[in-house]
Amino acid sequence: MTCKITPLSDHTGAEARGVDLSRPVDAETRQRLNRAFVESSVLVIRGQSLTASQLLGGVQLFGDVFQQHNSRFALPECPQIHYLSNQDRYQDGSRYIPGAGYHTDHSNDAAPPKATVLLAINLPDKGGDTQYVNMHRAYEDLPDETKRRIDGLEAVHVYQSKFSARKLMDLPADRKDKVPVSVLHPLVRTHPETKRKSLYLNPIRIEGVAGMPESEALGLLDELLEHATQEKYQYRHRWQPGDLVMWDNRCLLHKANGDYDHSQTRYMYRVMLKGDAPF
Ligand code: SIN
Repeated sequence: MTCKITPLSDHTGAEARGVDLSRPVDAETRQRLNRAFVESSVLVIRGQSLTASQLLGGVQLFGDVFQQHNSRFALPECPQIHYLSNQDRYQDGSRYIPGAGYHTDHSNDAAPPKATVLLAINLPDKGGDTQYVNMHRAYEDLPDETKRRIDGLEAVHVYQSKFSARKLMDLPADRKDKVPVSVLHPLVRTHPETKRKSLYLNPIRIEGVAGMPESEALGLLDELLEHATQEKYQYRHRWQPGDLVMWDNRCLLHKANGDYDHSQTRYMYRVMLKGDAPF
């Protein structure tokens, strides 16, 4: 079967059919998939039925595996693959919905992951979509005056911003001193492969803007986030059984929706791929 790739919206997302990542993939298909990922920012590979170790093998068509920060979600049989589940709870007993609220993954790392990959293992009957916003488009539409204002600014990223509306799960004791404490990244970054600029925001992890008073920084970040998350920049992924979805953390924000019946399990495998220091 040959691989067929089609766009999912006019700015973000492409789906590939006719690929089985549990089997060897030829060089031409690998190149087409990588190009589709870079050009579309979200690549959906339909119809995948993979064990964790097959997933680990398959994603290496796109890059090297990045070690995710919170090892409490690592699968014992394949620790580079983590899981996401709506059946986990915080210590106070409330339900934990991983990924709720727009963010980009692990931006507190000096070299954050270029991509995150989710493989649907169990889906609710309806709901639980993942929403993306295209930060290239959002940046390109900013007024010139705003572009000048933010040019050269750097944001402070931490594991969990004190301003985050969402609480992350605590790190296990043996990981606390291994996760970067704080790092500066440009508010406007350049995609290393396409050279397009994008806004690089993360309300879960950004705690301020270097050299800017806190109230001014929070106002600016809110203004940029409100602009970037408008519906016109969105691609909303409605999951189908067998979907493997990989997205480009360098130029997208994403969020999970907790808008479904929580007596049903939403369970995914998650793996990330190494990226470069943003510039
Ligand atoms: C995530 O933020 O990595 C999870 C997204 C999702 O579960 O849809």
